[in-house]
Amino acid sequence: MDLTNQSRRIKMNRIAFIVLAVLQLRVSLAACDTADYSNSSPVELLQAYIQINTTTYNDLSEAVEFWKKLAVLADVPVNVYEIVEGFPIVVLKWAGADSSQHSIMLNSHMDVVPAALEDGWTYDPFSGHIDENNVMYGRGTQDMKSVSIQYYTALRRLKENNVTLLRDVYMTLMPDEEVGAEAGMIPFLESEEFAAMNVGIELDEGTSFPLPVIAVFYQDKVVWQIKVDCHGVSAHGSTFPATNETATGKCRNVMNKFFEFRDEQYELAKVAPPNDAGGYTSVNINKINGGTANNVIPSLISLTIDIRLGTTVNEEQMDAKIRQMIAESGSNITFSYILKNPQSPATIVNASNPYWNAVTSAAEELGVQLLATIPPGSTDARHVRNAGYPALGLSPMPNTELLLHAVNERLAMDTFLDGIDLYEKIIDNLANIPADYTAEDGTEYLKVTAR
Ligand SMILES: *[C@@H]1O[C@H](CO)[C@@H](O)[C@H](O)[C@H]1NC(C)=O
Ligand SMILES: *[C@@H]1O[C@H](CO)[C@@H](O)[C@H](O)[C@H]1NC(C)=O
Ligand SMILES: *[C@@H]1O[C@H](CO)[C@@H](O)[C@H](O)[C@H]1NC(C)=O
Ligand SMILES: *[C@@H]1O[C@H](CO)[C@@H](O)[C@H](O)[C@H]1NC(C)=O
Ligand SMILES: *[C@@H]1O[C@H](CO)[C@@H](O)[C@H](O)[C@H]1NC(C)=O
Ligand SMILES: [Zn+2]
Repeated sequence: MDLTNQSRRIKMNRIAFIVLAVLQLRVSLAACDTADYSNSSPVELLQAYIQINTTTYNDLSEAVEFWKKLAVLADVPVNVYEIVEGFPIVVLKWAGADSSQHSIMLNSHMDVVPAALEDGWTYDPFSGHIDENNVMYGRGTQDMKSVSIQYYTALRRLKENNVTLLRDVYMTLMPDEEVGAEAGMIPFLESEEFAAMNVGIELDEGTSFPLPVIAVFYQDKVVWQIKVDCHGVSAHGSTFPATNETATGKCRNVMNKFFEFRDEQYELAKVAPPNDAGGYTSVNINKINGGTANNVIPSLISLTIDIRLGTTVNEEQMDAKIRQMIAESGSNITFSYILKNPQSPATIVNASNPYWNAVTSAAEELGVQLLATIPPGSTDARHVRNAGYPALGLSPMPNTELLLHAVNERLAMDTFLDGIDLYEKIIDNLANIPADYTAEDGTEYLKVTAR
């Protein structure tokens, strides 16, 4: 990988462009678009992709152009759907030998969470700087531009090596995973385009792991967020109403009850195995708002509480518990749900699921250890499972510090390249699951948890 030469080449091109412009020669826009990626290594592709600032809500047209060019290079069709204006969904299709079979959907998201050098990054988060240890720094190196380039490179290699795929394989690239998928995965799952893909399994993101293991997510913890408004007497700061009559006193009661519940759950979390965050419900009081002046007792204090349900929690019972905790905290306390996701089913992770077997046998062949995991958070895969499709989340980053969304997010390039080898085998296995499995409905590989 010859990065110094590449940046020198870019610089030279810029100079050449300026000179030409000064000479008032006609320069077409296409001519200054020097990047065609035809000679780019996978590392260079990742670097170029990191350099496109795809912070959520940014204009994604440069990223869309990037993927269109890569599709041309791979000689595969590409479609761009904009279900919500400004939020493109990109789909590349590698046609299999029998398009009537259930297909393989390799999903990733284009958007990244915000990052700025001023936050304490050693290198510009949108430079894709590679240090002397061959580690690339940049927003998206873990979450999850690396995975997109790994899917792509693996698919190109399979094609170049004339490996036949029985099933169609799609790469889908979403615009807004980081903010809840309202313009991406959620409407896409309801689209005709998605239905036409006839998906059998979706692969999605996982996480880095500080041990020689790759976590495979098979179920998500769903999010409930509530806003609690405590109404109380408002008066001059020198007056002295009963604590339980004040908005702060009422919210104190609410907080006491939620902290009591939190402490119980914390005990469960302390003994939970590292691959199963499904056994406890996390509770965090993340906003406390209110007050008007230093000497006025406020009439309203609001709390925002973020709850991630344990996977076996019954939704009705949880809802009743929340209502009870609030009712017992005093009168005139109201609450509303900001978010209330339904419990999300699990994808089966044992030998009865041929998709699971395809993934595990690929890992075995390469001597890579997988660990079926329920993570503490959630990904786009939860929407896919809710829609009735099995989904497995993995990002092949073993022995890697967890730096998703963090300052100095980075990835060792050796780990990145190993991941391409793994996907080559995974995709080959998944896309060549024998045709007789297609008679079965994908939903039978799902286990729906207690509602
Ligand atoms: C990346 O995009 C974000 C959001 O628009 C912006 O605030 C930030 O300045 C950009 N960073 C760079 C290096 O261009
Ligand atoms: C793949 O097939 C093409 C066309 O038959 C052939 O030219 C090429 O050498 C093959 N590549 C490999 C790696 O076998
Ligand atoms: C205030 O309200 C809480 C919650 O309802 C209750 O436990 C507590 O006993 C009340 N305190 C007083 C002094 O009434
Ligand atoms: C509840 O709060 C509202 C808004 O502050 C107030 O108008 C109302 O009188 C209160 N009701 C009771 C029973 O305290
Ligand atoms: C696979 O897991 C499912 C759901 O947990 C279970 O019902 C089934 O018995 C398991 N099958 C095998 C072969 O272990
Ligand atoms: Zn992500």
